[in-house]
Amino acid sequence: MFVSKNLNVNDKGHLTIGDVDTVSLAENYGTPLYVMDEDLIREHCRSFRKSIDKFYDGQGLVCYASKAFSCKEIYRVMQDEQMGIDVVSGGELYTALQTGFDSSKICFHGNNKTTEELQMALDYNVGRIVVDNIYELHQLDEMCGKQGKKANIMFRIKPGVDAHTHNFIRTGQIDSKFGFALETGEAFEAVKLALSCENLHLCGLHCHIGSQILDTQGFEAAAEVMMSFIEKIKLELGAEISDLNLGGGFGIQYTEKDDPLPYEKFMESVAKVINTFCKEHDIKRPFILIEPGRSIAGPAGITLYTIGGKKVIPDIRTYVSIDGGMCDNPRYILYQSEYDALVANKANQEKTETVTVAGKCCESGDLIGEGMLIQPCEVGDILAVCATGAYNYSMSSNYNRLQKPAVVFVKDGESRVVVKRETLEDLIRNDC
Ligand code: LLP
Repeated sequence: MFVSKNLNVNDKGHLTIGDVDTVSLAENYGTPLYVMDEDLIREHCRSFRKSIDKFYDGQGLVCYASKAFSCKEIYRVMQDEQMGIDVVSGGELYTALQTGFDSSKICFHGNNKTTEELQMALDYNVGRIVVDNIYELHQLDEMCGKQGKKANIMFRIKPGVDAHTHNFIRTGQIDSKFGFALETGEAFEAVKLALSCENLHLCGLHCHIGSQILDTQGFEAAAEVMMSFIEKIKLELGAEISDLNLGGGFGIQYTEKDDPLPYEKFMESVAKVINTFCKEHDIKRPFILIEPGRSIAGPAGITLYTIGGKKVIPDIRTYVSIDGGMCDNPRYILYQSEYDALVANKANQEKTETVTVAGKCCESGDLIGEGMLIQPCEVGDILAVCATGAYNYSMSSNYNRLQKPAVVFVKDGESRVVVKRETLEDLIRNDC
């Protein structure tokens, strides 16, 4: 009935998340409101971790890609679940470090890290810096040399596997701003160079083939390509690459059209590829890292809005306006993403109205979705949009000087604020 398994309907006919009444949440904390089920987040972490135990003898680390949803509390949860994290900016790194996150379990990504960001990574002994280009390699080597440090680096590789939602392409990924291309020999030259850098230790290779991927073929192909590259490095340069990071991208259910795989399937299929490769080619099995973001946070979250005006345009469409929109969920305006929505205070009623859910920004494209089937609604009803836990809060903005909503975690039938709602004062805090 619902796209996420943590959603239900109580005897008042209200939608619940993690057994907490969403209508009460809206009353207590106001709307728009992001609500996330902490237990489901933890369950996702465990299923990825268990998959490494089960299919790869525990020889790996799951790093939550925190660009999906970043705030102090999520890093505390990740640390508690013995996860690593992927950060892509000084801001994410700072937030994690503020919670005392174990820096040895951090992968630092980014195609244009600033000097300050690299310095921060060195100051805090970040476990793995994922180097994206030659300039960064030189800069990091020089910084380490001057400061008497040796950094652990990985290279971001473009494996030539471009995964789309339902299939993948084996060529043509040279045109990406991220990483070193394999096909052109660029990646191999970079490895040679890295091996000659005295202040750097090339511990591994990384690739990330896409996002919201709903099958395993692309991951298997990427694993094969990366293993062949590891073998080439061993044979031609005599160097052993100890870590292989296969990135994230595991798909989730946004609407009933999506049919995601159980999370353990990804590790099951890539482990098979790697184990076979290592046996057949006499290569030492690498330590595996994976970086799920959306699949950890996405299904665990919903957004609650209050419905305002309703505009029926005969023979065209019905607009239902909400008190949020592209500022808290820019994924429709960016990607025409589809979501499942329902009227939280009428969750036991049948969905009979097809509407366009419109945000409150001065922008015609500010929609949450078109052709959305919901219960008949009126002003004051609470609209719940499902599976908004990833890339909603983290991509939110203050366009039109709207305040960012609060984020509430629910757990064991209780709720708590983990990010406060912005105030009007917050909006002018940095204005001079
Ligand atoms: N690792 C790397 C290096 C990545 O670039 C990404 C996502 C991930 C891991 C996590 O991917 P996930 O498991 O979340 O699919 N804003 C877009 C998604 C952009 C993803 C960018 N990189 C969206 O809202 O769909």
